[in-house]
Amino acid sequence: MSIPFDFRMQLLLSLSREISGSLNLPQIMRFVKFSIQTFISNIVWMNIFEVEKDKLIPVEKEEKEYLIKNEKFFSELKKRKEYIYIEDLKEKKYDYFPFCKEAKSALWIPIKRWDKIEGLFGIESELVKGFKLEDVIFLRIISDFLGVSISNIKLLRENEERKKDFESAYEISLQINKPFKKEELVKTFLKLISEKFNSIYTAFFEKQGDILYLFDYYTTSNKISLPHQVLIGEEICGKSALSGKLIKEYKEEAEGIKSKMAIPVFWKENLVGVIEIGGEKDFSENEIFLANLLSNTFSLSYQNSKYYEELEKYINEMEKLVYEKTQELIKTEKFALIGQMSSVVIHEIKNLLAGISAMAEFILLKVPDEKICEIAKMMKEEVEKAFKNLSNILEYVKPIKLDLKKTRIEEVIKKALLLSQGFFEGKNIDVELNFEENLPEIVMDEDKIKEVFLNLISNAAQAIESKGFIKIRGHRKNEFVVIEVEDNGIGIKKEDIDKIFEPFFTTKKGGTGLGLPRVKKILDYHLWQISVKSEINKGSIFEIKIPLKI
Ligand SMILES: Nc1ncnc2c1ncn2[C@@H]1O[C@H](COP(=O)(O)OP(=O)(O)OP(=O)(O)O)[C@@H](O)[C@H]1O
Ligand SMILES: [Mg+2]
Repeated sequence: MSIPFDFRMQLLLSLSREISGSLNLPQIMRFVKFSIQTFISNIVWMNIFEVEKDKLIPVEKEEKEYLIKNEKFFSELKKRKEYIYIEDLKEKKYDYFPFCKEAKSALWIPIKRWDKIEGLFGIESELVKGFKLEDVIFLRIISDFLGVSISNIKLLRENEERKKDFESAYEISLQINKPFKKEELVKTFLKLISEKFNSIYTAFFEKQGDILYLFDYYTTSNKISLPHQVLIGEEICGKSALSGKLIKEYKEEAEGIKSKMAIPVFWKENLVGVIEIGGEKDFSENEIFLANLLSNTFSLSYQNSKYYEELEKYINEMEKLVYEKTQELIKTEKFALIGQMSSVVIHEIKNLLAGISAMAEFILLKVPDEKICEIAKMMKEEVEKAFKNLSNILEYVKPIKLDLKKTRIEEVIKKALLLSQGFFEGKNIDVELNFEENLPEIVMDEDKIKEVFLNLISNAAQAIESKGFIKIRGHRKNEFVVIEVEDNGIGIKKEDIDKIFEPFFTTKKGGTGLGLPRVKKILDYHLWQISVKSEINKGSIFEIKIPLKI
């Protein structure tokens, strides 16, 4: 019985409505079955199979045995991408085993969507040549509808799964997006990943040069041993680092590991490391997608943790600096106060001393008694010493005002050397000057710098008991000129090194302990640095670093 064209069209219309309006395959299947049976008689079996990767999933339950038996036929069908009509099953033209024993002919149509096989549509009739040409056309149109429907359902499922992936990625990112230290972050992340992927181990290798170093790993087995370092290009994580892509391997290894996945971690297009996961089953498409997603989240948190650590280091340094500067400030404030007070007092004392000196002079002139004159002479000498010391103190506490000019440092040092000849008297000291050629001119207050070298040279000479040397060197080092004053005198005790620049620290009889503090003060004003190396009984080297650019 032939069915009128109009009727077929109407059926197709309602079928298309039904198929596109539903996302429930079994329901669609029922409707398709019902419609087809109304128009094509003698149908004994019909089913739809979804193609999922290499597997066939029947919409209505089907015996597995037939699926296995027909594997060859199905792959032929998928390859052809066109329908196969077996008009008479007895002819055994195809390697096909009918699902229904009574079947005499069968029609198989691939369900396609944009040339991709989404499913197979199989139908068997109890008659030989059970399908007419118009039936075939009719069924092919239905299978096209089914293609749309199946791909929509797949998309929906994928969307659901993606949604779940995004949700887990979001959850994990929430947990690792806290201000963590690097070690802590990696630990937390590896544990979360292990739980999410049910992995046997999860490791993070950090890239340093051409080597990936095992940073940390999380494992559920106590027998796992991972290499401490891997060369880029070697093993799965090294290969992933080289290619910059996720790599998946499936091979049985010890401890139940059957598959591995290595995911590169990038920060601004630079590889920072690789995450490696080992599991007992093959990783699914979704897990790969999720791994890629999480590697991005991880890279962000990893970078943050690095910034966080740097910031912490910086804050610590700043705190230390603030503390040091505060201490310095307290000290300077103290000295400024002492300075202000002492300059007034010193002036008073100096006046008194001048009076005493004048009186001693008077006694020397007017009193004939030799003994008294002797005492008056001593008095005058002592007063002169005290006067000199007070002048030193006054000089030290006086604020410094620089008169800056470009000057040759060698010349200044030579002048200071001439002025310090008094300290060489009675000693056998070799002086050696050694200046690199073409040292640049340096901006300085010549008189003050002369004072600096006078102090350093006098100290050096005083440190030499009877015989020794003083070597003064000057050379350029990058953006600095470095001057060294070396002696082979008595040296400075370790415990005294930190004190020598403090005012009033002296180990000398009659010393004021203001020479080096004055040196430091002048150099500070010039923004030059001074440091000292010394060894007891061997000698000392004072180094001055002069920046050429400020
Ligand atoms: N070249 C040196 N070798 C060994 N010790 C030194 C040298 N330079 C400085 N010192 C030590 O540092 C101390 C402080 O030096 P500083 O020049 O400040 O004072 P002083 O030389 O003792 O007295 P002043 O310079 O006021 O006469 C010295 O007493 C000495 O112990
Ligand atoms: Mg001195």
